[in-house]
Amino acid sequence: MNINQIMKLKSDNKKISMLTCYDYSSARIINQSNIDMILVGDSAAMVIHGHHSTLPIDIETMASHVAAVVKGAPDKFIVGDLPFMSYRKSLTENMTAVETLIKAGAHAVKLEGLNGNEDLILHIVDSGVPVMGHLGLTPQSVNSLGGYRVQGKREDQKQVIMSHALALQDAGCFSLVLECVPAQLAKEITQSLDIITIGIGAGNDVDGQVLVINDMLGMSSDFKPKFVRQYLNAEKLFLQAFNQYDAEVKSTEFPSLKESYL
Ligand code: KIV
Repeated sequence: MNINQIMKLKSDNKKISMLTCYDYSSARIINQSNIDMILVGDSAAMVIHGHHSTLPIDIETMASHVAAVVKGAPDKFIVGDLPFMSYRKSLTENMTAVETLIKAGAHAVKLEGLNGNEDLILHIVDSGVPVMGHLGLTPQSVNSLGGYRVQGKREDQKQVIMSHALALQDAGCFSLVLECVPAQLAKEITQSLDIITIGIGAGNDVDGQVLVINDMLGMSSDFKPKFVRQYLNAEKLFLQAFNQYDAEVKSTEFPSLKESYL
């Protein structure tokens, strides 16, 4: 998949599927699937590294995840997430962060919010790198937002998000993630834009959907926001497998003769 094929999905009125991914083994499986795009999201900070927010992850760690995913999913269009603060410094430092993810193999970068990012987005796009925007609940601003909560419920907030979406399109973004916004607002934004909208907790009237892979696989039973659909109960299946292995080791049922070198 390349950017032209991704854009064609929108012009052909086809819905776009995106999943996050952070490692080689999962990327290999996604590569064999029909999923259109992969986001190497900074959600890695939480679901892989166990942090309470996305803030602690740095550009080197993100690049390492990108490089692993690129090796596993050579046929997919891969977006690398610019982590917290990596694009809020000098132009040189911001572009070094972009360069790091692109040299790790990402085909595009994603950044959160509009204010202060407009000129940078123009510069990144002019440098030949597609940019995905991200509005609504922007987890890197969790401390300003006062938590992970739905954005754009009030009329004044709706207008701000709509105007920011239009500005991100004007700045050259090829796509925009809308996270945790009312479905009607996501619909109106999608109808007002030519670029691709990807929703997460933004209803069905967007061009595509993204989910965090660990959430949709049901890796943690204690995290189940309204917008997540669990397609597997991986926690249960993993637990069963681990306990069966434990029991078979302890009963000496594993390894068998067939599993031993004779
Ligand atoms: O990092 C991430 O996983 C994301 C998605 C939730 C859109 O930004």
